[in-house]
Amino acid sequence: MAQPIVITGFMGCGKSIVARALAQHLNVAFVDLDESITARTGRTPAQLITEDGEPAFRRIETDTLREVLHTGETGVIALGGGAWIEAANRELIDQYGCSSVWLDVPFEVCWTRIESAGEDRPLGRTKAQAAVLFERRRSVYQLATIHVPLLGHEDLNDMITQINADQKF
Ligand code: S3P
Repeated sequence: MAQPIVITGFMGCGKSIVARALAQHLNVAFVDLDESITARTGRTPAQLITEDGEPAFRRIETDTLREVLHTGETGVIALGGGAWIEAANRELIDQYGCSSVWLDVPFEVCWTRIESAGEDRPLGRTKAQAAVLFERRRSVYQLATIHVPLLGHEDLNDMITQINADQKF
């Protein structure tokens, strides 16, 4: 496939699950950016943010994204929730001719998933903190080429069909 696809949206919107299923559907390679960061540094994004601070994590995130895009082997990339927010990353995504898909899931659904995941998300430790971030980021997620409004309980296969119908990859 010529154009890689990046999947973006807030923490808990289902980026990794949807990206993996879409890659499978299109028979292309899937990369989870957060997992690539962990493989590269030996630390999770949460550890990097907590131990080194968010700016240091964002630099590693950008370097990892550049590396992933540079291989030219990846078909679908699940971004971390903040990756799309960084202008440098959007420029890279644009430079590599990627399509971008925003999974627009209501905040309450994202929060329920964040809370129940039992995974540390240092930028969303409280509901109030996550809500502020959610509102602040919406206008930037809107810059994605494909907007997929979701209620959060859709069937995965239906979602893949919908995304494919919106855009012939
Ligand atoms: C972040 C989201 C996380 C992870 C890091 C920062 C964010 O990924 O990259 O904790 O800034 O929203 P998920 O969206 O997969 O939780």
